[in-house]
Amino acid sequence: MKKKIVVLTGAGVSAESGVSTFRDSDGLWEHHKVEDVASIEGWYRNPALVLDFYNARRSQLATVKPNAAHRAIADLENEYDVTVVTQNVDNLHERAGSTRIIHLHGELTKVRPENRCNEMDGFSEETVFDIGHDSISLGDLAPNGAQLRPNIVWFGEAVPKIESAIDAVEAADILLIVGTSLQVYPAAGLYAYTKADIPIYIIDPNDVPVRDGRVHHIRNVATKGMEEFKNLIKSKN
Ligand code: OAD
Repeated sequence: MKKKIVVLTGAGVSAESGVSTFRDSDGLWEHHKVEDVASIEGWYRNPALVLDFYNARRSQLATVKPNAAHRAIADLENEYDVTVVTQNVDNLHERAGSTRIIHLHGELTKVRPENRCNEMDGFSEETVFDIGHDSISLGDLAPNGAQLRPNIVWFGEAVPKIESAIDAVEAADILLIVGTSLQVYPAAGLYAYTKADIPIYIIDPNDVPVRDGRVHHIRNVATKGMEEFKNLIKSKN
């Protein structure tokens, strides 16, 4: 039976594709107020601003490509049973060939009707649909007559996929964390669900706030770090 690897990714894995991270210098949150464009309160206050922000992200996605790190993660499937748990809303893991991906924070290319009564209760997957790289505007309605909104998990909203992510992490034989500052919960707490004796690898050029004796920190960018990771696990198996 193949060993199980969970790969938890954040914005850093897409940085070398030209997608901005959030908290690095010149990152997205330096140019936009997170509470305006990525919170449920921001959506209620000024939905047009929020739609513009995600329309720009969605059209930029059409111009970028997966990088060698996305491809190396997809290639792990040749030898391992791989689940990618990503905080990223881009589709670069899919385009690189990964087949089992949990999008904790939603997906840029998908939209759904807003539900002002109970956003906190989550939503039904059946009402989510693909719009590719198109824009949406105020007045664009779903078949049920409600305003369309990005299928993104905003601050202040539930994270419907967290349970399946926890299940995957609990079953993992190896946890690999790539390019996330681990500042945002519940994603940042996922590593605590690992079995006690498994190795944890972190690929990030900067410090990451995990104090755990099992962690092997590969202090490099994602593309080079994935090469190091592959060599390391090859020598261990
Ligand atoms: P951050 O911007 O917080 O962190 C990016 C991480 O990537 C940092 O630790 C960087 O050191 C690292 N990094 C930068 N360049 C890299 C490279 N070339 N290779 C590898 N690592 C690199 O992004 P996230 O941790 O993904 O949520 O942010 C988590 C969530 O916060 C996002 O999903 C988003 C944001 O607010 C929502 O919008 C709901």
